[in-house]
Amino acid sequence: MNQELQSEIDHVRELLTERSASLVNKQSIFKAIELKALYDRIPDIPLQSRASFGQAVNQLRKEIQNLIDQTEPKQENVSSIDVSAPFTPNCPVDKRPRLISSQLGSQHPLMIELDQILNIFTSMGFYIVESREIDDDWHMFTSLNFPEDHPARDDYDTFMTIERDEQNKPWIGPAHTSSMQNRILSEHKDDLIKNLPIAAVIPGRVFRNEDVDSRHEHTFYQLEGIYVSSHVSIGNLLATLKAFLERYYNRSIEVKTQPFYFPFTEPSLEIIMSCPFCSKTGCRICSFTGWIELLGCGQIHPNVLKLAGINSPDYQGFAWGVGIERLVMIKYAIEDIRLFESGRLDFLRQFSIKDNR
Ligand code: DAH
Repeated sequence: MNQELQSEIDHVRELLTERSASLVNKQSIFKAIELKALYDRIPDIPLQSRASFGQAVNQLRKEIQNLIDQTEPKQENVSSIDVSAPFTPNCPVDKRPRLISSQLGSQHPLMIELDQILNIFTSMGFYIVESREIDDDWHMFTSLNFPEDHPARDDYDTFMTIERDEQNKPWIGPAHTSSMQNRILSEHKDDLIKNLPIAAVIPGRVFRNEDVDSRHEHTFYQLEGIYVSSHVSIGNLLATLKAFLERYYNRSIEVKTQPFYFPFTEPSLEIIMSCPFCSKTGCRICSFTGWIELLGCGQIHPNVLKLAGINSPDYQGFAWGVGIERLVMIKYAIEDIRLFESGRLDFLRQFSIKDNR
């Protein structure tokens, strides 16, 4: 190969070496038109020099590759990629996915309603304590006067972990918000001595191994209420719940009771209310009976007070637990509880305050 051809290759080497230093994507140097021009020339080189010219161009390509390999950071030094990020910050703006504006979102209907429900109870003097989503046997059962191995424990279709706690009991996805009672009673018992009542409402998510249908969900919300003071009667319980229901449904409501059984209340009751939809004339919502079985409640069992360190002859209390979905379904004539967790926009948008399309 003559001197002229060699200096052509040397010239391209110089150019590409310099240029590759400033490139972010180093491999793109192989698309350089100067390199391509050298390859394009091969067929036109006189036969006696063609092979050596071709080898020299290939050699140049290798040299540049080596140069890149030396200057590029090694794989282990490359910073890790967050694969959950919606796009890389370096990708061009028009390649980024369109994110839904937060203005198009809205609160979930259950949370909108829960706000209203809590407002009613706080205006009545109750404070709010949030429930939790994993609990233990003591809070779910034992502190609520469920004897060990009592069949009433089976009523709750409880999800439990295989893993065991220090008492060698499984952890529990709480099946009711009553599992918060012992914590609140123990924490606030000294208020009673100061003549202050214990008055708490406890919203929370609960879990049951239910066969799911239009009325049953494995995951749903409850609102627990507890009130303890001296001279508390079932009359106070009924008046409190009636006042709440009348404000929530914004009409006058009749309540009646029927006996029930819960280990943690004595007596235990079920509250039945007049149908807020038809005012007892009978409709779909009340299955044409005029009445709706709404919630469980009762006078707190003396053992539950004792287990929280409260002297039961001196103090009494009432408690209740109600399904929040149930309250909301009655208010809006929603027929299928599964809609709440479905994520269906056509359902959710009907409750959207910001965006009523
Ligand atoms: N925890 C009960 C349930 O989920 C509801 C309930 C009944 C709560 C009576 C109470 C109560 O506080 O006193 O079925």
